[in-house]
Amino acid sequence: MWNDTALTRRLGIRYPIVQGPFGGGLSSARLVAAVSNAGGLGSFGAHGMAPDRIRDDVDEIRALTASPFAVNLWVSTEEADADRATLDEQVSALLDARPPALSFVFGIPPADVIDECRRRSVVTIGTATTVDEAVALESSGVDIVVASGVDAGGHRPSFLRSPETSLTGLFSLVPHVCGAVEIPVIAAGGIADGRGVAAALALGADGVQIGTAFLACEESNAPPAHRDALLGLLPYPLHGQRAGALRDEAIRTARMDLIALWGRQSGSLFQHRRAKELFQDLVCVTECTLSRQAQYR
Ligand SMILES: Cc1cc2nc3c(=O)[nH]c(=O)nc-3n(C[C@H](O)[C@H](O)[C@H](O)COP(=O)(O)O)c2cc1C
Repeated sequence: MWNDTALTRRLGIRYPIVQGPFGGGLSSARLVAAVSNAGGLGSFGAHGMAPDRIRDDVDEIRALTASPFAVNLWVSTEEADADRATLDEQVSALLDARPPALSFVFGIPPADVIDECRRRSVVTIGTATTVDEAVALESSGVDIVVASGVDAGGHRPSFLRSPETSLTGLFSLVPHVCGAVEIPVIAAGGIADGRGVAAALALGADGVQIGTAFLACEESNAPPAHRDALLGLLPYPLHGQRAGALRDEAIRTARMDLIALWGRQSGSLFQHRRAKELFQDLVCVTECTLSRQAQYR
């Protein structure tokens, strides 16, 4: 079965499809639960959140789903003490809440955090933009790695070299990462339908992480104008005006994650407004694509 992979076995989920986390308040418990209830792994972006808020959000997700889900943090990009203190408080809240998985970007958590996650059976998922980063994550004891191509929405979360020198596309990155590490690999970047899922699996990935297509669904916390822009529902001049206003507001309020909507590459493939329908379509088209390929082998 195509959906029985090292990733689904490690996480105890039915399908190897992860809904990518969104920082900046764009994640929602509803979206996480919709994806986890459909058999994938919903993820909640907790970057920038106070510890109490993180506990409340994990409680809310648990009230909506009994299936595995992940909570995501940004590991400090700087080594400043204040960043480490903030991360410590967030991690401590998360470890108390014990989500089934903890995913992170922009680096590798301190060794004590990875050890404590293992002791508490919290699966750790790190993000790599290069082969070297994937190897470093595996060496540090992380359980699963996301290979994030330059095509992925959001920030470029490189941590060993500058983002400008870590710009490999997903099709090149995935086979190299799969050849370099033993842990399960999740492919992220520009995947928006089942053909993309099938392609990532054919490249050797154990699963996929899809961000922007889920951000466009009504369960996400993105404002309606943002979702409409992602779905291409605003004609160009209006699209430009609305998105321009959004961009200005994002800059004014330091919500830099909102600007990522310009970075999407598979926008015209977005068709679904509801996460459950998107998920079912992903599963169905992946199955069709893989069975068609099998006929030609
Ligand atoms: C607006 C936005 C915010 C994001 N914030 C985060 C984040 O806080 N943490 C993280 O690990 N990934 C974040 N991502 C990356 C997604 O989780 C996912 O890996 C990426 O969107 C996959 O590429 P795709 O959008 O082409 O599907 C963000 C993506 C977007 C579009």
